[in-house]
Amino acid sequence: MQNKKLISVAIDGPAGAGKTTVAEAVSSKLDILYLNTGAMYRAAGLHALRLNIDPLNEEDVLTFLHSLNIDVKYVNKRQRTLLNGEDVTDLLSNEAVSEAASKISSLPSVRIKMVAIQQHLATKQSLIIDGRDIGTVVLPKASYKFYLDAKLEERAKRRYKEYLQKGKLNADYEQILADMKERDFRDTTREFSPLKQADDAIYIDSTVISIQEVVKKILSFIIK
Ligand code: DC
Repeated sequence: MQNKKLISVAIDGPAGAGKTTVAEAVSSKLDILYLNTGAMYRAAGLHALRLNIDPLNEEDVLTFLHSLNIDVKYVNKRQRTLLNGEDVTDLLSNEAVSEAASKISSLPSVRIKMVAIQQHLATKQSLIIDGRDIGTVVLPKASYKFYLDAKLEERAKRRYKEYLQKGKLNADYEQILADMKERDFRDTTREFSPLKQADDAIYIDSTVISIQEVVKKILSFIIK
């Protein structure tokens, strides 16, 4: 029986603001699991790509949504994302999947399904969750809410460096900047639960402070 009080830490913000790195560090400091909700939308996007279905066409997406099963498991405290039982974690970080995720995540039916799964996971354990709508929709009563932001150019620069470090030597900064701008637009202007800072979230701009400083700042609100 779990008798410890569960805590939930919500981190929202645009692509490339450093949410994942920060959430991983905070998760290990607090010894609670980290749920990356972007990976769940990515898995749904991957499924649409595999079926050759336009991820923006809700009517077509509805043909598979009822049988789509997205779940997570933890191996050595790290999330693995399951698509109909298949561990697709290592297939989720390319541009095609990223774009499909951004598109499919704009569909209300998809969001309703993902939000329900995320809320259920948060009833079972303490979690740090990152995404776009965690503080506003998924966990409006989260114990702590943060909104992590950074200037577009800085976020694109970080993504560019990340690609180079991963050996993607043909990465193109201007292309990354343009893609990110388009994703920002789609994420913030979609009708159904767009990316938005919750009124009670703490705003942190990481443009000129390091990720370590962001982590320290977040922990300072949680560990008194
Ligand atoms: O964080 P990410 O880049 O892995 O997210 C992939 C896409 O999913 C992104 O375009 C926004 C969307 N997303 C969302 O709409 N809501 C979330 N809670 C998480 C991600």
